[in-house]
Amino acid sequence: MQASLFRKFDLFAELDDRELASVAAVAKTRRYNKDDVVFHADESGDVFCLIREGQVKVTMISPEGKEIILRMFGPGEFFGEMSLLDDEPRSATVVATEPLDVVTIWRSDFLTILQENFSIARKVLAELSRRLRKMSNRIESLATMDVYGRLARFFLDLAKESGISLDNGYVSVTRPTHQAIANTIGTSRETVSRLIHDLMRQDLLLSEGKTIYLRKSALDQFRAEL
Ligand code: CMP
Repeated sequence: MQASLFRKFDLFAELDDRELASVAAVAKTRRYNKDDVVFHADESGDVFCLIREGQVKVTMISPEGKEIILRMFGPGEFFGEMSLLDDEPRSATVVATEPLDVVTIWRSDFLTILQENFSIARKVLAELSRRLRKMSNRIESLATMDVYGRLARFFLDLAKESGISLDNGYVSVTRPTHQAIANTIGTSRETVSRLIHDLMRQDLLLSEGKTIYLRKSALDQFRAEL
């Protein structure tokens, strides 16, 4: 792969040209269609993946067959590191939610890269810490908040991570499906639809095509309440 393609990944930001070339030499690309499974939970893991284009959901299936969405990842983010680091099977199922283009690095090459580049190892560890914090917040929400609070926190997180602040008093975000929101906050699609409808009636949220507009004052109110 061309070394220059790696420049845009924050993970490799501190590498010089020679180091970048050695990473590029062991990297491959893979493409997936929407809804393709990239990894199944419990299978053995052999590659690390960095997203160039597209989006994935990290999911677990409950014993009753219900899907729980742990995280969504998009361009520049990585997944598949856990089973390479702890030698355990894949911890979750990863599914492409859009056409997906990933850079893959085999286990032994990934471990060598970590060993030889402390800046990369540090970034992987920092990201694992962020993911742990996020999961702690999720557990707190599930244990202590009602479904309205969990939905409010979902929108706050979405606005913080990927929202675009507009001059008209709204923040725009890409609209997840009601089912995806339900599977993230642990409720039914019908409940999410009803609550979103309520928010729309109060003019706190507008939905247009693939975009949701969240009123900034509503986000401020959510932040104050949670
Ligand atoms: P791995 O276990 O190799 O394969 C599944 C991947 O999903 C895992 O590596 C992580 O990259 C990702 N993953 C699993 N659980 C979580 C989580 N709770 N938060 C974020 N990402 C996760």
